Amino acid sequence: MTDESFGDPRLAALYDPLDPDRGDLDAYLRMTEEFGARRVLDIGCGTGVFALLPAGRGIEVTGVEPARASLDVARAKPGAARVRWIDGDATALPELAVDLVTMTANVAQAIAGPDAWHGTLRGARAALRPGGGWCSRPVIRPGGRGRDGTARSRTAGRTYPASARSRTGTG
Ligand SMILES: C[S@@+](CC[C@H](N)C(=O)[O-])C[C@H]1O[C@@H](n2cnc3c(N)ncnc32)[C@H](O)[C@@H]1O
Repeated sequence: MTDESFGDPRLAALYDPLDPDRGDLDAYLRMTEEFGARRVLDIGCGTGVFALLPAGRGIEVTGVEPARASLDVARAKPGAARVRWIDGDATALPELAVDLVTMTANVAQAIAGPDAWHGTLRGARAALRPGGGWCSRPVIRPGGRGRDGTARSRTAGRTYPASARSRTGTG
């Protein structure tokens, strides 16, 4: 099910203006360079704020997003024609063979329930070429607080090369 904050056209239009500092995306761009990625799949691409960055550097990017209103915002942006946008989720992707799968910002937290999560991991694995990588990095704002109320002073991040995929649950 699509969260209404991403699926409502009025709210989707506010997503980028309400979060203008997307310095969190720098790490993903660096990761595309580190992996030498020529093809990237961005799962939960939302308004396309990340997908458009590597696409602007000549990388072949596919963005998949289940909230139509967010995808409409993405499709209307300059350079959007460089990205292949897919309306849906990672459970029904065409054959892609990408070098890197990204899930920027809090996509992992938006995928609710074990079935949806397992389906996403299976779809991501199927989309990766052998030896490809995965990059998902929850955003924790400096000075923000975790669920247990304790202060967090830095951004947490994890990347998983293909050799570690079994540890991510994709088996
Ligand atoms: C916090 S937003 C992040 C959007 C974008 N990645 C960014 O960096 O701005 C979370 C996104 O995950 C999407 N989402 C929710 N469930 C999903 C699923 N099962 N598969 C893929 N994306 C999903 C939401 O629609 C929303 O666009």
